[in-house]
Amino acid sequence: MSDTSFLRRVWLRQPLTDSKVDGLQPVIHEQSQDQPPAIPETQTVLLLHEARQPYRLTDSYPVPELRDDREILVRTQAIGLTPVDWKAPDFNFAIPVLPHISGRESAGEVVLNSSRASRFKVGDRVLAISTDYRDLRKAAYQQYAIAFDYNTVRLPSTLSPEEGSTLGVAFVAAALALGVCMGLDFSSVLDGPDLYTLLRELPPDSLAADIRNECLDGLRAHDRAQPGDWLAIWGGSSTSANLTLQLARLAGLRTIAVADKAKHGLRLSAPDRAARPDLLVDSHDPSRAVAIIRANMKQQQQQQQQQHEGGGEKRRRTPLRFGIDTRGRESAGWLMQALLLLGPEEGETTTTTTTAQPPPSPPATPHYDYSNSESGTDGHQQHHQLSAHLVGLTGLPKQQPEDVVFHTVPIKLFHEVPAVGEALVEWLERLLEKGLVTPPEIIGVQHGLGSVNRGLDRMRKGEISGGKLVVRVG
Ligand SMILES: NC(=O)c1ccc[n+]([C@@H]2O[C@H](COP(=O)([O-])OP(=O)(O)OC[C@H]3O[C@@H](n4cnc5c(N)ncnc54)[C@H](OP(=O)(O)O)[C@@H]3O)[C@@H](O)[C@H]2O)c1
Repeated sequence: MSDTSFLRRVWLRQPLTDSKVDGLQPVIHEQSQDQPPAIPETQTVLLLHEARQPYRLTDSYPVPELRDDREILVRTQAIGLTPVDWKAPDFNFAIPVLPHISGRESAGEVVLNSSRASRFKVGDRVLAISTDYRDLRKAAYQQYAIAFDYNTVRLPSTLSPEEGSTLGVAFVAAALALGVCMGLDFSSVLDGPDLYTLLRELPPDSLAADIRNECLDGLRAHDRAQPGDWLAIWGGSSTSANLTLQLARLAGLRTIAVADKAKHGLRLSAPDRAARPDLLVDSHDPSRAVAIIRANMKQQQQQQQQQHEGGGEKRRRTPLRFGIDTRGRESAGWLMQALLLLGPEEGETTTTTTTAQPPPSPPATPHYDYSNSESGTDGHQQHHQLSAHLVGLTGLPKQQPEDVVFHTVPIKLFHEVPAVGEALVEWLERLLEKGLVTPPEIIGVQHGLGSVNRGLDRMRKGEISGGKLVVRVG
């Protein structure tokens, strides 16, 4: 029996004494004076027994046990449903074992920790982000779930559990896409992380082999996104786009969102919206959307050249070098068109492609012309051969042009590298506390674990659009 399972049993059945819990006791003892919540030995969970089947409500399932002092036990109060919760069973992926417990983000109350040094104490209201789908103890579709302290965010009193449960995975995906794949430094925003630097200070073998290239070789230092750069997001209505837009704006990027304006136009362009893009483009006709982006970026380029270079030699790269697609391979292909170099005739795209690429992890190494650099008028070092960078959250084009680097989000960094997880959750706490990040809109609240299947069906049908569906549990 582990120390912590012993603790839980002791806690339930008899008063703690100093001699019995050796080392761990003082923390628990302090908490026990505040009548710690009783933790049952069993709970209700949702189990997936087979791919393409609904999740089944199951009683008498063991409450998971803490394994080390970085873990806490959280009583689930609200669950944010994410697309992978229905895509995994439908397409039979990310299911390492059957029966499986799913659910990637939840908010609740800390009911047990095992270390005096823990950032959390019993009773704290938290958001638990469970990117670690291989560890069923951490899945959200259960009444009690384990969370690493470095994957857990303390919620400010201004946020309800429902609101807290909406933004975990999207925040992590946004921060890693911007900070790792594009090299954006967040240190000017409430002392946020500079993930690009942080990763290079770690021993390389602390990064899993399948993400090492993305983390260390996907982007050269002088190609990093800088304040003032433009970022385009295709699939601008999604939760991940929402968080990406918010973080990008805070760090000084200018943003373009491509979305269905008939559905989302007013909401996405509302002046008081934290995730309001600088340019909102309708997605209905994708080739027109690309033309609009390129025309606007060309105007920007001309303005910059007039202001700074007296109309000198025209650069073939427009100011748009960064794109994130949240929809899939097809729209990622359109977004790539918007990122391509201008051709010999202004506005004509270059379409030279390399042969079909395997899935973009590891990404191609960007091509640089180090000999051809000059000092830019904005004070940054400029290179004629700066690359464009395209991040696909859910797919990338088959053909990769030579000057566009493909990226996938190394999401496992969050739970596999404590320094990264910690930097992100502590930053999110500050952002939420100061109101600099706003949770996505909640467009539905359902009640009870038993209602999850119904919610996922609504997501399958495309009924949940432009916000989050949340399930209230406890
Ligand atoms: N690689 C990673 O690490 C990572 C991390 C996070 C998310 N993702 C993936 O990124 C994508 C976006 O995630 P998200 O959480 O931001 O999504 P989301 O908030 O659920 O938004 C998805 C958007 O897609 C559209 N949509 C909704 N249901 C749909 C359906 N059944 N079929 C087609 N379109 C539908 C809606 O937009 P419209 O109504 O405007 O069409 C909705 O606003 C998902 O595929 C997710 O799995 C990947």
